[in-house]
Amino acid sequence: MISTALSPRFSPLIRIAGPQDLDALVSLEEACFSVPWSRKSFEAELTGNPFSRLFVVPHPNGDECSFPLIAYLSCWLVFDELRFLNLAVDEAFRRQGLARTLIAQAIRQGLENGCQRGLLEVRASNHVARRLYQSFQFKEYARRKSYYTNPDEDAILMALESLPSLPL
Ligand SMILES: CC(C)(COP(=O)(O)OP(=O)(O)OC[C@H]1O[C@@H](n2cnc3c(N)ncnc32)[C@H](O)[C@@H]1OP(=O)(O)O)[C@@H](O)C(=O)NCCC(=O)NCCS
Repeated sequence: MISTALSPRFSPLIRIAGPQDLDALVSLEEACFSVPWSRKSFEAELTGNPFSRLFVVPHPNGDECSFPLIAYLSCWLVFDELRFLNLAVDEAFRRQGLARTLIAQAIRQGLENGCQRGLLEVRASNHVARRLYQSFQFKEYARRKSYYTNPDEDAILMALESLPSLPL
């Protein structure tokens, strides 16, 4: 049973990212991860990768903020697989359902494009993210030794065998 908290505590606008979001994506990423994706990685997702979908949530107060984006989710729609690559929410906006809303949006896109199952990997120590994915019924199926650096850490591989239809 998927948690019913699919509606966040405010109504975020979710849109697909474009090249104009590059600076804001890099800032958000650097604020959220010990080993952030590089600008080049984001560029690669934004241009020339037909599998890639990058969803962003703009700051509710608009572009004049120091963090114009408050959340993003990157995934690949690869035939029948929806692969989650990365997900981050600005610390000031956490625990309001934004990550859940972004995951639901990616699942809807996946289903529309013929994806059947979801796949992801997560740091073993990231219990918040593991709990979030478990709430969508992702199951842990393998562990990759020392997959991550800074700190050196295992990856937990999780799969959702049958993507669910989710209400809007
Ligand atoms: C993980 C992250 C994306 C969650 O974002 P969020 O918008 O705060 O998550 P949500 O509000 O949608 O929470 C959904 C569920 O996740 C779990 N969760 C989220 N934050 C939690 C916390 N601090 N403690 C325990 N569970 C938590 C809960 O199950 C929560 O449901 P609930 O609020 O109904 O209890 C955010 O904490 C983050 O950006 N962390 C740093 C980057 C990161 O770790 N990304 C994931 C990489 S795999």
